[in-house]
Amino acid sequence: MLEKKWWHEKAAYQIYPKSFYDTNGDGIGDLKGVISKLDYLKDLGIDIIWLSPIYCSPLADQGYDISDYYDIDPRFGTMEDMDELLKEAKSRNMYIVMDLVVNHCSDEHEWFKKACEDPDGEYGKYFYIADAKDYKLPNNWRSYFGGPVWDLLPGHTDKYYMHVFHKKQPDLNWENPKLREEIYKMINWWLDRGVAGFRIDAIMNIKKPNIYTSYPADRDDRLASIDNMLHDAEGIDDFLHEMKTETFEKHQAFTVGEVFTDRPDALEAFIGNNGHFSSMFDFAETIAGKSDDGWYKCKPVVWGEEYKKAAFGTQKRLGDIGFISNIIENHDEPRGVSRFLPDYAQNPTGTKMLGTISVLLRGIPFIYQGQEIGMQNAVWNTVDEYNDINTIDQYHTARDAGLTDKEALEACSRLSRDNARTPMQWNTRENAGFTTGTPWLKVNDNYTEINVETQDTDPDSVLNYYRKLIALRKSPAYKEVFAYGEFLPVYQNTSSVMAYYRKTENQRILITANFGKEAVSLTLEYPVKQILLSNMASAEHSLPSNDIITLNSCEVLVFELETL
Ligand code: GLC
Ligand code: CA
Repeated sequence: MLEKKWWHEKAAYQIYPKSFYDTNGDGIGDLKGVISKLDYLKDLGIDIIWLSPIYCSPLADQGYDISDYYDIDPRFGTMEDMDELLKEAKSRNMYIVMDLVVNHCSDEHEWFKKACEDPDGEYGKYFYIADAKDYKLPNNWRSYFGGPVWDLLPGHTDKYYMHVFHKKQPDLNWENPKLREEIYKMINWWLDRGVAGFRIDAIMNIKKPNIYTSYPADRDDRLASIDNMLHDAEGIDDFLHEMKTETFEKHQAFTVGEVFTDRPDALEAFIGNNGHFSSMFDFAETIAGKSDDGWYKCKPVVWGEEYKKAAFGTQKRLGDIGFISNIIENHDEPRGVSRFLPDYAQNPTGTKMLGTISVLLRGIPFIYQGQEIGMQNAVWNTVDEYNDINTIDQYHTARDAGLTDKEALEACSRLSRDNARTPMQWNTRENAGFTTGTPWLKVNDNYTEINVETQDTDPDSVLNYYRKLIALRKSPAYKEVFAYGEFLPVYQNTSSVMAYYRKTENQRILITANFGKEAVSLTLEYPVKQILLSNMASAEHSLPSNDIITLNSCEVLVFELETL
């Protein structure tokens, strides 16, 4: 049996601070902006807020390159702002979760600077530093953002350091107990300060196999995918167990891991009763269609069998093992509406349908900022419009593979991380009300239609639908079934339908959506008690008189059925 925890009945929200709300006109969102929107989030039904990194950082990878773990980057605010945010959240019974980025730090962190000064000294051992014998790289792993994982150690011609992400993100050496101790100290420092827990970044990368292992090259660059090394690395459980017992466990902290792994025992090991984390993200839908060759080779996974299989796969395997976290998008992915919905469904009705299917799954729903108003991918005309290092690398990967500028841009527009990073759309004023200055990344042109202020007063808006949806999930009468109810897929042979039951001993909920272009009829297996939610006005007062229901194109219905 799953042990009950405080986070099981909650709803979570990811804030990407740089793009959320700017209060001082410098074009960059800040902590004061987050504080000023707490009531908006409370009203939406949010309990847990995950903040993407706000620590001091050169922002080479938008804060995922930390130069000081103990301070707030001045562009985001001050430590006083952070303390105020913690206080204001607490007074609303909300929890703040920070991003824990400890696979790597910034090359501007003092540890790395000291390692460069004296590679053989104490701080050299915080990193992976290897001799550059005849300029031969120790291995041929390709970094996530392109090129080898090795670069010359600044100030040296005879040494390399490793970075599995960007060269401004040197990997920390977890084999060194001193480094691990430093990290645990920092985690406890934040927990003592009042943060409720952490979202744990890129964590699978902390364990490396022997760094002198090369793999068969898989592209013309003669490098090999980093996935090879992830697959070969053994022993990460020891690190994660130690981290949990030294830090999170003592504080009853909530942790959610960014876990990418093909381990068959992953659910048990990471989120089982004795797992490393409280929860981990289910990335099945975002991984579907991916190719090792780069974005230009990724197959679009628009609604269909493959999408259904991905969305339901983890749920089916999960059972009572643990508590997963469900997303349709985050700061590393394009907008779910643009990615997963067919053209005819990319409207408020389709947006509500997608949201319903995701939010009522078993697990914690994580809403990404703007998802609740149905934000969509932006239109990108030239490579210069992008800020994201990953997108720029993927553009060049596509060009190197022989694609034209237009084709490479097309692949990037579909998958660019900047799609999710355009400023939050608050109102119809200039820059969508995000800033009075010049926004650091362009605002999506559709802000005049898609924005919080307009939707707030429209009872049929996506925003008001999300409010109802989250309220239903957390309502006293149904929170038990949505948190702990069994997940059972149904109508699996009706190809345009995506449907499942959530069921406890005395409650049975049916969530059913028609992603198809045509209406479809279904025979209910149990008598209807009531309709709890629908995305079409007509449905609310039309209980089926027999056991047949008709779902229009893009219609979603949530029923309470008899248990029988
Ligand atoms: C994670 C983050 C991503 C970042 C990477 C390196 O995947 O979500 O934004 O680029 O780690 O820290
Ligand atoms: Ca600002």
